[in-house]
Amino acid sequence: MAILLPGGAGYIGSHTAIELLEEGKEIVVIDNFSNSSPKVLEAIKKITGKDFKFYEMDYMDKEKLEKVFEENEIEAVINFAGFKAVGESVQKPIEYYTNNISGALVLLDTMRKYNCKKFIFSSSATVYGEPERIPLTEDCRTGGTTNPYGTTKLFIEQILKDIYASDNTWDICILRYFNPVGAHESGLIGEEPQGIPNNLMPYVVRVASGQLKELSVFGNDYDTPDGTGVRDYIHVVDLAKGHLKALNKIDKEEKGLYIYNLGTGTGYSVLDMVKAFEKATNRKVAYKIAPRRAGDIATCYANPRKS
Ligand code: UFG
Repeated sequence: MAILLPGGAGYIGSHTAIELLEEGKEIVVIDNFSNSSPKVLEAIKKITGKDFKFYEMDYMDKEKLEKVFEENEIEAVINFAGFKAVGESVQKPIEYYTNNISGALVLLDTMRKYNCKKFIFSSSATVYGEPERIPLTEDCRTGGTTNPYGTTKLFIEQILKDIYASDNTWDICILRYFNPVGAHESGLIGEEPQGIPNNLMPYVVRVASGQLKELSVFGNDYDTPDGTGVRDYIHVVDLAKGHLKALNKIDKEEKGLYIYNLGTGTGYSVLDMVKAFEKATNRKVAYKIAPRRAGDIATCYANPRKS
């Protein structure tokens, strides 16, 4: 019995693959390397000393996906495949809705066909839109997403709720990630976005390493302690471990649809993060204050009590 990881070569997928292998689970990875690279797979094998099956393919390719289910005994799916750049999603809504939503539907339909009904979904704090209250609990209002990427997460959550309502033999866990950062302690894998990074920490890293000139801090006039945006930065290995817990939960507990925030419960500002990075690495991070970024909110952090 194996766990299928679509998008398993990506940032969060690869860290989760390691945790699963180290827990003695069998995994099957599929990835089309649209935002990752084959060397990540070698790194996972090196770190864990374990091998696994890999298919280079698009997770929307139904024929190939069925072959994966025929050739392996898949007991659960943790879906990491999908596009994730907020700004790009505004420019390419059709691509985002197709890849994320149609992709998820192809996957879920195939799972149903092979009677595999355990599904863990990578959702995002973005589904809360403008937060109803801080810290965010799972029962806070969702909706009001400000970009197609966020809307795909919201829609897929709804699709999963509808699937569960139609057939309660499914076990579904929706994980709402806050801001994943950091890398595996080996240093062999990490976050490696292609092109100029959109997210704060990969951008900071490129400034510190001299590949980019300076960070633009998007706004210092928010209603926050230092005026810069506050987020809940969770270490990617902690996030990865969260998937393992989710898997154990849907394996052992009553059938159900569960929703969990994966955050730390502490908010840090952009400047807090810059200063902490400088202290940890002993390198300067040049920055300038720039206008606010469209669609950003002032403060977003989790109440992680439930998880
Ligand atoms: N920021 C900068 N400069 C940059 C990049 C970011 O100042 O170059 C600031 C942002 O304004 C924000 C903070 O750093 O205050 C974090 O920004 P990120 O782009 O790293 O992350 P976001 O909080 O905007 O978005 C993240 C994920 C999304 C997810 C969202 C949920 O990238 O996938 O959290 O809240 F939807």
